[in-house]
Amino acid sequence: MDDKTSSLRQSFGELIEKVKSSDEIEQLRVEFLGKKGHVSALMSQLKTVPNEQKKAFGQSVNQLKQEIEGQLKEAHDRIAALEEQRLINSAEDYDVTLPMDIDTGSYHPITLVMREIEEIFRSMGFTVEDFSEITDDYNCFEALNIPKHHPARDMQDTYYLSSGQLLKTHTSAAQNSIMKKYGAPLRAIFPGRCFRNESTDACHETTFFQVEGIMIDEDISISNLIYFMKTMLSEVFGKDVTVRLRPGFFPFVEPGFELDIQCLICGGEGCPSCKNSGWLELCPCGMIHPNVLKYGGIDSEKYTGFAFGLGLTRLAMMQYEIKDIRTLNSGNLKALSQFKGK
Ligand code: PHE
Repeated sequence: MDDKTSSLRQSFGELIEKVKSSDEIEQLRVEFLGKKGHVSALMSQLKTVPNEQKKAFGQSVNQLKQEIEGQLKEAHDRIAALEEQRLINSAEDYDVTLPMDIDTGSYHPITLVMREIEEIFRSMGFTVEDFSEITDDYNCFEALNIPKHHPARDMQDTYYLSSGQLLKTHTSAAQNSIMKKYGAPLRAIFPGRCFRNESTDACHETTFFQVEGIMIDEDISISNLIYFMKTMLSEVFGKDVTVRLRPGFFPFVEPGFELDIQCLICGGEGCPSCKNSGWLELCPCGMIHPNVLKYGGIDSEKYTGFAFGLGLTRLAMMQYEIKDIRTLNSGNLKALSQFKGK
């Protein structure tokens, strides 16, 4: 009987030395320790063993079983370590510079332009702020010097929610809370999505993006406003663009202006994007009304400031020569995936 135990031990010892994979280890385990394996077969011979040798026999088979288990475990650890090393080596062989042949995603034109504007203003010392799309009457109107029943409210067809709140119609809705948060002096831009309940055409959408900017300090004047607008637009378009300033009325600025840019799609000749006028309203702006500074907790005797509300959607259309504003919200991947970034 002892002979059988030791020959089993020997043949297992030879086989376990040669295993090269976890599958082979598993095969060995089944062959030796499985229900129909060699060790079970040996154990089943216990009944043929004379009584006085039964104990010793049982012990030696059990010991063999434990030895086999131990060696299987060792082999398993050894192979696992080898496989890990093989994986590391193959990762090192991986050439990250090889061209990919899979389709990559693309950024939305609005995202691309928004990032560009953010970078330009950051470099001029502005912070970039965030503001929620749902706001209230105070932030969107009252704090901007637009009291109830003021005719200026009609200019913005507002979506009201059943809670009494509303979807912000312009990014100016964030002015008050940002003034309260930081006080003066202050340089901030806040891009955001705006909503207006109006009929859509090639240049009007119910949902569009603006970037609001405010700069408040001692002695800020209209020339600061013009300087920042010009710098920003020439950076964005990479060339001198033709602009014009017209008087514009907004209750929260005094004086207020409309900054128009000559249509880059038709070069000023007239097309549907510019309603055949050759010009596009791009950036209403002006000097912040003293009341608005006061509501924002800023001393209007000491500080002045300018504000602008850049039409980001318009800007993206100009930059990428998108003729119809509705393309931007269409989810038309064929159209949108052309803009992979510059
Ligand atoms: N919030 C105004 C609008 O969307 C634009 C604006 C912003 C005008 C800042 C002046 C100053 O109509």
